[in-house]
Amino acid sequence: MSALLEVTDATMRFGGLVALNAVSFSIGRGEVLAVIGPNGAGKSTLFNVVTGVYRPTSGQVRFDDADITGRPSHEVVARGIGRTFQTSRLFSDLSVLDNVIIGMHTRTKTGVLGALFLPGASRREMAACVETAEILLKASSGDLFEQRHRPAGTLAQADRRRLEIARALASEPKLLLLDEPSVGMDEVETDALIADISRLRTERPELSVILIEHDMRVVEAFPDQVMCVDYGSKIAEGDFARVKSDPRVQEAYLGKAAVHA
Ligand SMILES: Nc1ncnc2c1ncn2[C@@H]1O[C@H](COP(=O)(O)OP(=O)(O)OP(=O)(O)O)[C@@H](O)[C@H]1O
Ligand SMILES: [Mg+2]
Repeated sequence: MSALLEVTDATMRFGGLVALNAVSFSIGRGEVLAVIGPNGAGKSTLFNVVTGVYRPTSGQVRFDDADITGRPSHEVVARGIGRTFQTSRLFSDLSVLDNVIIGMHTRTKTGVLGALFLPGASRREMAACVETAEILLKASSGDLFEQRHRPAGTLAQADRRRLEIARALASEPKLLLLDEPSVGMDEVETDALIADISRLRTERPELSVILIEHDMRVVEAFPDQVMCVDYGSKIAEGDFARVKSDPRVQEAYLGKAAVHA
């Protein structure tokens, strides 16, 4: 069976800076891939190239048997790629529930705004949206569901991250991209995040997940496929044990001196 996502020779230049240098990789249905690499390595740029935030300078992005290179983000979401961002993109003044409903807009016929202002069919659609959003929140966490009418901005950091994932799932993606989901979390919260992602895999065995992570505990929890990037290039891939012991990876993280010392 062909890969769900296949990136071939993706290069992204910003002026003289090569943020991504001919990166190729693929992920199959139901698989998890962890992307690691030092700050500024090009990890988020990779997500931005896959999701149409940037059109790559060269190279190709294929998803679900279609060429989506440089397609606009809304189309990429509609085709089945959901994502979270490194820095929160929640609407902090809107309720938790409304934030999830906004994530669903690509699936409704009239769109969320239409549903808010139009009577009849779209009102019914809106009611269905609320129901679906509540089901999603409940599945995500009982705690978050209890807080569904609170403004998103008043949530604790870990719950905000959880809400971002719930919102990304609201578009019913086939592929979920998580950009450093554990940032700002303490150990207990990180364990809860690992449990959330593990549960998600059990509940949705067809869902593929790409995870950018700095916390090796999270990477270790999903060790089958790991890719390391440095200065825009892929420098290692394989299972976690193999990538971790690769001298180029150690050099990238610790610096040459540490490895040769
Ligand atoms: N829109 C842009 N314009 C110019 N340079 C950019 C742009 N986006 C990213 N870069 C640069 O590209 C390089 C890769 O950035 P990127 O954000 O992808 O790194 P990263 O691996 O996600 O790092 P971090 O771990 O800090 O999030 C960096 O040097 C960054 O400054
Ligand atoms: Mg980043």
